Amino acid sequence: MRRTKNKKGATRRTSPADAAVRDAVDFLLPTYKRSPLVFTHGRGAVVFDAQGKKYLDFLGGIAVNALGHAHPRIVKIIRREAARAIHLSNLFHNLHQGPLARKLAAWSGLDRVFFANSGTEAIDGALKLARLVGGASGKTRILAMENSFHGRTFGAMSVTHTEKYRAPFAPLVPGVEFVRFNDVADLEAKFDAPVCCVLIETVQGEGGIHAVSEEFWNRARSLATQHGALLIADEIQCGLGRTGRYFAYQKFSALPDIAVVAKPLAAGLPLGAILTTQKVADAVSPGLHGTTFGGGPLACATALEFLRTVEDSRLLENIRERGAQLRAGLEALARKVPIIREVRGEGLMLGIELSVEGAPFVAAALDRGLLINCTHDTTLRLLPPYTVSAAQVREFLRTFKAVLTQTPRVNAPAESSAKAEPARAITAAAR
Ligand SMILES: Cc1ncc(COP(=O)(O)O)c(C=O)c1O
Repeated sequence: MRRTKNKKGATRRTSPADAAVRDAVDFLLPTYKRSPLVFTHGRGAVVFDAQGKKYLDFLGGIAVNALGHAHPRIVKIIRREAARAIHLSNLFHNLHQGPLARKLAAWSGLDRVFFANSGTEAIDGALKLARLVGGASGKTRILAMENSFHGRTFGAMSVTHTEKYRAPFAPLVPGVEFVRFNDVADLEAKFDAPVCCVLIETVQGEGGIHAVSEEFWNRARSLATQHGALLIADEIQCGLGRTGRYFAYQKFSALPDIAVVAKPLAAGLPLGAILTTQKVADAVSPGLHGTTFGGGPLACATALEFLRTVEDSRLLENIRERGAQLRAGLEALARKVPIIREVRGEGLMLGIELSVEGAPFVAAALDRGLLINCTHDTTLRLLPPYTVSAAQVREFLRTFKAVLTQTPRVNAPAESSAKAEPARAITAAAR
């Protein structure tokens, strides 16, 4: 127990967890709608709260904890490198940045890498590269997708479709136009000579787990080539193994000009990267872009260890096998539970589209020791670690069935329930 004073000076005895929540409420900017839970530690796909309650973590820090919690190789490398050099600066080389770039080039089929600190920052850097390459010939238009999410900095926010994220901050970066996702005719109508890039999440994550179609990807590639524009793949959520391939775009034969990664890259430490071709790299010279923290030795050594672990432990195979097991279980559930409208996604990036609001099921899952989340009001999203076991998938499916069948439901809001079942107020969902 700790003695804490609130802002009015009153003293009270509180647990460290309660004190931490109180401080957060009193002193943080209110940018997040948070659950009052405090998580303290985890191991593999399991995480514990401050009361010692155990949860099966199928959210993975929103696609970050790809090796789960406290993976021995990650713990070891962080301990070792933290004791050597946490930060050195980009005025000098360090031992890990170059080798990490080499490995990412090999995984992606691209040639050159720039390290940033987050997804949004890497997206902004990619947009800068597109303007750099195209700007000299007057190519400044950016095509982005409806239903997209790319981040919160000005560039990334300007290419994010969600109006409520953008509107309060107008005017945004000019020259952005949105294309209907997977609508080839709309893409063709909007693609013209002044376009410098087209930006596509290979699998839309926040938008509810929607994959780009092969036809749309190939047309975007051919139009970009025809007009001398760049095809940019946002693989921040779906890349680096999540779909069972190193990059989600590797199910197609055509490469992007730029791929952007972040979330799982340094196994929980902040690190993002822009991967691109030699041709784009030829437009870059010292001083045009940079960062203080990006590519530091600790983060890069950890990222290299993450990529090597994915290779050494044959995790792509586990992702494909556990993904297929999870999907088959969810599809079997969908045949028995009519509120499941569709199961979408690939590998360990799955979305369960409901005909009712998802939030009550997220809360009920939490009660029963499952960590999942809901995006776009009605899509439950699963992002378990690449290391998840067959037994953990079975445990998840058992508990998830109880969650779906024993939780009172709330009808989806009008916008997302256009295709939903007839109105059915709040009803006990037991079947
Ligand atoms: C597809 C995609 N792009 C970009 C971002 C922004 O990444 P960050 O939150 O690291 O800035 C996210 C984050 O959720 C994302 O899912």
